[in-house]
Amino acid sequence: MAELVDALDSKSSSREGVRVRPPLRVPLQPSFFMETLIRRGRESDMPALRDIINHYIKNSIVTFEMVEMSLENRKTWFTQFSEDGRYQLFVAERDGEVAGYAASLRFHQRPAYAPSVMTSIYLHPDHVGHGVGGRVYATLLDELKKVEDVHRAYGLVVLPNPGSEKLHDKLGFQIAGLLHEGGHKFGEYHDVRIYEHRLGK
Ligand SMILES: CC(C)(COP(=O)(O)OP(=O)(O)OC[C@H]1O[C@@H](n2cnc3c(N)ncnc32)[C@H](O)[C@@H]1OP(=O)(O)O)[C@@H](O)C(=O)NCCC(=O)NCCS
Repeated sequence: MAELVDALDSKSSSREGVRVRPPLRVPLQPSFFMETLIRRGRESDMPALRDIINHYIKNSIVTFEMVEMSLENRKTWFTQFSEDGRYQLFVAERDGEVAGYAASLRFHQRPAYAPSVMTSIYLHPDHVGHGVGGRVYATLLDELKKVEDVHRAYGLVVLPNPGSEKLHDKLGFQIAGLLHEGGHKFGEYHDVRIYEHRLGK
């Protein structure tokens, strides 16, 4: 497992093989009419998920990843997920297109942290602000509550991120602390708020 997760670490994401992608597509119809489906992630989602995370890696501090992900990296990342384990992946589709995802991931490499997971949620920029994040994140949390050996879920939110802060509050996370200037990206230090979900346990 340790080897697998090491391979999933951000340091393993290589620039080799990373292609510059065309701009992300704009939806063809008003979002009000779009049908949303939440389902398990599949390996075939990896190109779309790679494009979403790479958008935020390049343009935003919401993720502290610094190096764009290759498709190979995302395929390796995908191998950690299962339907009944600690690490799960859900995808939101709108009108058949991947709109975003929520995942639980290893929180820390030291083994006693194993019952704690870190959560991660990213929507395609065309699909933010329509309630999709709440739906996919709530599905992930509901499934994690069924897993006996998951005790805590932690969301690390780089501040400010009003949409993510509100979403964590709404979904029952509590503020567990602050990493003051815990990260450095785009030439500046950034605070990180730790959100904790006790998953009813
Ligand atoms: C953060 C994110 C997952 C939220 O998902 P979303 O579908 O856009 O959020 P929702 O539409 O469900 O909104 C959640 C709540 O936050 C509020 N909200 C959303 N954006 C907001 C903003 N910029 N300022 C204040 N409140 C905001 C909404 O009004 C809603 O509250 P309500 O239900 O009381 O009206 C999504 O915006 C996203 O992917 N952002 C970019 C990547 C990112 O920041 N990921 C999180 C990293 S920690």
